[in-house]
Formats: sequence, C-alpha cells, structure tokens
Amino acid sequence: MQSLPSHAGRAQRASARLGAVAAGAAFAVLAAIAGTAQAQAYPAKPITWIVPFAAGGPTDALARSIAERVAREVGQSIVIDNSPGAGGTVGAAKAARAPADGYTQLVGHMGYMGAAPALYKKLPYDPVKDFAAVFRFPDTPMVLMVRKDHPAKDVRALVDYGRAHPGKLFLSNAGMGSTSHLVAAMFASAAGMKVALVPYKGAGPALIDVIGAQVDGMFDQTNTALPQIAESKVRALAVTSAVRVPQLKDVPTLAETVLPGFEAGTWYGLYAPRGTPPAALERLQQAYLKVMADKAFSARLSAQAIQLLPPEQYTGSALARHTEAEVARWKTVAAKAGISLD
Ligand code: MLT
Repeated sequence: MQSLPSHAGRAQRASARLGAVAAGAAFAVLAAIAGTAQAQAYPAKPITWIVPFAAGGPTDALARSIAERVAREVGQSIVIDNSPGAGGTVGAAKAARAPADGYTQLVGHMGYMGAAPALYKKLPYDPVKDFAAVFRFPDTPMVLMVRKDHPAKDVRALVDYGRAHPGKLFLSNAGMGSTSHLVAAMFASAAGMKVALVPYKGAGPALIDVIGAQVDGMFDQTNTALPQIAESKVRALAVTSAVRVPQLKDVPTLAETVLPGFEAGTWYGLYAPRGTPPAALERLQQAYLKVMADKAFSARLSAQAIQLLPPEQYTGSALARHTEAEVARWKTVAAKAGISLD
C-alpha cells in the first residue's frame, strides 16, 4: 500500500483525533443529559426505608417523622418496612442485599451499624463496605426507667438492689446488640451488678412490659420515654447524657450519681446499599438537609430531647466518617465491657 506524504498523513491523523474528541464530547454531553434526566426522574416510585425494629420504638418513631418530611421534599412516599430481629442485624442484612437502585435504604444506628462488628463474629454484612452513607439523623440520649412500683426510688437504690439481688434485676431491651441492650450491659458492668437482660423485637414492646411491670426496667431513648414518664406510667431514675435533659431537669445523669464519666446515647443514619447511584444519594441528602433546616421541625425534635447536630454533621460524608470511627471504637468498648454476642 502506498504510504501517504508526511504532511497529508499528519492532517489525516489530526482529523481523526478531532473526530474522536468530538465524539467523546458528544458522548459526555449525552451522558450528562441522561444523568440529569435520571437525577430529575428520581425518585420515580415510592421508596422503602427498612427499620430493623418493631413499630412503636424510638428508631421507628424518629424514622417516620423524618421520612414523612423527606417524602414531601422528593415528591414520592417513603414506606417504612419494620424488619426486626437480632438487635437490628436481621434488617441490616436485608438492606445490604437489597437492589442498589435508590429505592431501598436502611435506617441505621449505633448498635447494628457501629457496635455489631465487635459483638458478632459472623455478621452477615459490613456496615462500611456494604453501604453508602446518605445522611445522619440527630442523636437521642437515653433514660433509665423502672416500673412505677419498683422499690428503688433513685438510681443509687437501684444499684444497691441489683448488687443485693444478682441476676434478679430484669432489664428489657430491643434485642442483643441494640442500644437498650448495650447501654444496660455497660451500666451493669460499670456498677458491678449481674442483671438479667431480656430481649424483645424492639424498644416499643420492651417498654410496654416495663409499664406492665412484667420486667423491672430498661434504658430507652427520650423520644419514646418522655411521654410515658410524663404520664407517670414509669419512673425515670437517670439519663445517660453528659448533662441533664431539660425536659427531665430533676432526673440526674448517671455520671453525676453512680458512674462518674459515664455517657451514652444513640446516633442514627440513613444508609443505601453500596452501588446506589450517586444522583439518588445526593437527591435524598439535599431533601433531608432542607427538612432539618426547618425551624419548626427541629423545635419539635428538641422538645423530645433529641440532640440536634451542626448541619455539616448531617451529611453522608460525615456519617461515613462517623460510622468508620464508631466501628473502630466499639472494638475497644466491647472488649472493656466484656460484651460479646456469639
Ligand atoms: C435500640 O434499643 O437499639 C432501639 O433503639 C430499639 C428501637 O428503636 O426499637
């Protein structure tokens, strides 16, 4: 084949390169349009949030109040799928296996998305590798409550009772590895008590049995505990936050009474299966940040002693960093408290 003169060859090669650049640019524009179209089309149908506890507990209540408002922002309903079991790990495993299409997310929290890898040797999911963090909810402090006819009138008396009756102080919880279980186990360990930890499918059913005096007490988040305390259905003995809760100003902290330095609470976040389109994550995050900027809504949360966070801590990237740090931290905490679940 006759070779082309060098200048003609250069022109042909330049023209070929120009054509490739033009084709690439056209493809990029089409991809951007498609991406924008996909982003604008999302969500095109209802979204499911898996809450891995029975309805009626603090996680369920907080998730529903946020879901209702995020749904309004994105223009699609958000359906809560209560999938309880094993302290939240059953629902978390279900979410990890869900299609990464933007239509299923997990309402996670410090138990099954933070402590679980340190507690379970065979966890059927990885809170970091199997999920993309979408946004962080505000935190909730917890209240130690006892049945209203319990002889202990304050937390010191309860610790004395627990020490005097090893294995006979029955504290209900939302399942092994749940916040209510972990905080109760750390409380008992730090106070030198042997208590009976009674698991339920969520803090909702667990609280019903404290009210019904079927068990002696429990740790529950303030958003579901406060109404029961206000109606004197249970007695609040202490809160787990570093400072007292304004709505319970006469209830001391564990730190100022029996456990100096003790502090615990529940953090939460929304997680999507790893591989969910970034446009969907971004759409949900922006909707949520708008919801949390609503002063009337955040005032409603504060009235439940829910601890609002600075806006920058609500983002998906902040939740991802927090999740990694908590998974690492719980390895030390669980070992120190001697907590293991399998
Ligand atoms: C827990 O105790 O870990 C959960 O908050 C329980 C619940 O929300 O039902």
